[in-house]
Amino acid sequence: MNIRMELGEKSYDISIERGSLQTAVKYLNLTRRVLIVTDSGVPIDYAAAVASQCSSAKIVTVPCGEGSKSFDYLSRILTVMIAQKFTRTDAVVAVGGGVVGDLAGFAASMYMRGVDFYNIPTTLLSMVDSSIGGKTAINHEGVKNCVGAFYQPRHVLIDPDVLSTLPDRQLSCGLAESIKMAATSDAEFFGRMERNIVKGKIGNDALDDVIVSSLLIKKSVVEEDETEHGKRRVLNFGHTLGHGIESSAEGRLYHGECVALGMLPMCEGEVRERLSSLLENAGLAVKYPIDIDRALSFISHDKKLDGDTINYVVVPEIGSFEFRRCGIGEFTSKMKDLWGETQA
Ligand code: GLY
Repeated sequence: MNIRMELGEKSYDISIERGSLQTAVKYLNLTRRVLIVTDSGVPIDYAAAVASQCSSAKIVTVPCGEGSKSFDYLSRILTVMIAQKFTRTDAVVAVGGGVVGDLAGFAASMYMRGVDFYNIPTTLLSMVDSSIGGKTAINHEGVKNCVGAFYQPRHVLIDPDVLSTLPDRQLSCGLAESIKMAATSDAEFFGRMERNIVKGKIGNDALDDVIVSSLLIKKSVVEEDETEHGKRRVLNFGHTLGHGIESSAEGRLYHGECVALGMLPMCEGEVRERLSSLLENAGLAVKYPIDIDRALSFISHDKKLDGDTINYVVVPEIGSFEFRRCGIGEFTSKMKDLWGETQA
């Protein structure tokens, strides 16, 4: 199926089709120089399958993990593009998860002031969230995503068959982002996930529903607010505290796991109970021994800060959200108490 992201001149299609990795050339213009960026955690067959459909392809493999979202790897990619004589009419393709998409997309945005970028996400998290919407970035000085650009892909190609090789832990991380979207924006979708996810397992039809339902939520949010001045902040539900947890965990926890932990203090009562049990069913920890003071200390670098004021999202009822704002001092003391409640 096809979902059209309507962003005026920057509009693009998101194609979701099992087996489409092998027929990528039907969707993407690969008759030019193509730089394929992948990482060492992605089966090399995936990048090779795309390369075999290009008239001229070069594959760059970066190490798996957030460490590749750096000036060093950005520079290596640009160096390869120069060495291979890439011009403005050539293209960059990401074949991988969020790290690869963020890095490759940022390189595409910069090279000769912008070349075409295609995203072929291979993790559930990147399929449902990071591959669409145009956020690209690297990390710097330990601050996540602090150097980047909004740069929309020309096409996103999703082949859910590639998820068959995805480790369960990664699948759970993707489910965390989908649960985030359902919790804030679609109570029926939340209910379907409650019924369809059993002990970390989900069937193919339910997985396709998770991908499409998440994309439809993200599409409507991004179409309304492409560059995150208002509504798009809803996608940060769980991320304010989650990013602090992620930074303080120094690689022990994945992004989706931190988002899961970060959502729980942002709701209460029955909402927190339902969210907590769905997260657990999806294979995510709802309790984790972190140094909360240290996690909160990272929040002062958060992009969701306006001066000394922080914006965050709470869920009063499943399928709805409210934006809240307060000073960083008030936020940290509130979060400390709420975190304590969720971990009791
Ligand atoms: N992942 C959140 C966003 O795209 O805004």
